[in-house]
Amino acid sequence: MDAHVIKKDFPILKDKTLVYLDTSASSLKPNNVIDKINEYYKEYGVNVHRGVYNLSYVATSKYEKAREKIASFINAEFEEIVFTRGASSALNLVASSYGLTNLSADDEIIVSELEHHSSVLPWQNVSKITGAKLVYVPLNKAGRITVENFKKVLTIHTKVVALTYISNVMGYITPIKEIIKLAHEKGAIVCVDAAQAAPHKTIDVKEIDCDFLAFSGHKMCGPTGIGVLYGKPDLLAQMPPIEFGGDMIDTVEKEHATWKDSPYKFETGTPPIAEAIGLGAAVDYLDNIGLKTITDHEKKLSAYTIDKMKEIEDIEIYNPNTDTGIITFNIKGVHPHDAITYFDGDNISMRAGHHCAQLLIKWLKVPATLRISFYLYNTVEDADKFIKSLKNARDFFKEVGF
Ligand SMILES: Cc1ncc(COP(=O)(O)O)c(C=O)c1O
Repeated sequence: MDAHVIKKDFPILKDKTLVYLDTSASSLKPNNVIDKINEYYKEYGVNVHRGVYNLSYVATSKYEKAREKIASFINAEFEEIVFTRGASSALNLVASSYGLTNLSADDEIIVSELEHHSSVLPWQNVSKITGAKLVYVPLNKAGRITVENFKKVLTIHTKVVALTYISNVMGYITPIKEIIKLAHEKGAIVCVDAAQAAPHKTIDVKEIDCDFLAFSGHKMCGPTGIGVLYGKPDLLAQMPPIEFGGDMIDTVEKEHATWKDSPYKFETGTPPIAEAIGLGAAVDYLDNIGLKTITDHEKKLSAYTIDKMKEIEDIEIYNPNTDTGIITFNIKGVHPHDAITYFDGDNISMRAGHHCAQLLIKWLKVPATLRISFYLYNTVEDADKFIKSLKNARDFFKEVGF
């Protein structure tokens, strides 16, 4: 894979000065995805599942074909894929539907301080309503979730385990397969937040045997406004819908109604049609290159960058042994919100803040951090430009007296 060639697929990168290092927030979109979305609006942009006319059949078949591609992307079956607005909606769906109907005061929900807010707040809500207790896996010294520490909090009361597959701040890969096996032995179900995993790592839901898994389109070369919930069919079948209205019903009477089977009972109203088709194209794009090739490329870039960062004084790296292309750091004594303006001045797009992971920021005992994240379109030259800017930023702040 040559990232210089890949860059040409991404129209935003026609600006040769732009160094985009914020993929963990949202990835850039390649031409084939943009073209597929345009094609929908230009050539068959009508509603799905409703019209008894040719254009609607075409739209329905392309929309459902996208579901098929996404299912095969994670080795799931067609009916196990629910389209949502994003990873957040998918995780909320599990908590509000499965969580609220299955949990009660004696139960425990295992989460971690590594979670994005979208993987922990829905369960806080379940805890408030049902009385189930939230239990945090202690992170190890490096900030990782380990099997050893997971065993310490897993009990016969554990009913749900909700954990991230890859941390959006530390870039660590959770040993999810081992955790799922242990959780199942105690009768608990596992909901995996794969928002940072699906864009970068091959996922086989059958192999890891997760019960639910959620991710977003916009972090994996796809459009915004679309996400995916994978669920085991027996669980999806017993879960009630949480939104009601058009398209999800079977029959409607004055006082009650019945629903379609999953996934349709969870997809109320006009779905994100162009977005699903766009995500299908993103999956084609990533499959064509190969996720393993992408992962190896990102890891090489992060290892190279960390080595260079270590040579600069006053740089504190919080995850020097990252498993991925995510690097989290600070310039000692400089607030990340001040530092970020320096990088922006060099046309480097990166992130400063709590990264929707305030629990981890508190665990790190810092007010906020800077974060860069690499993807398939980043090159060694991008890394070098970042390093140069980081050196200059550090010198500048030193000069003005931090
Ligand atoms: C680990 C993780 N989980 C969940 C989300 C939420 O994704 P979305 O905002 O697309 O719903 C994100 C987004 O940054 C994330 O990084």
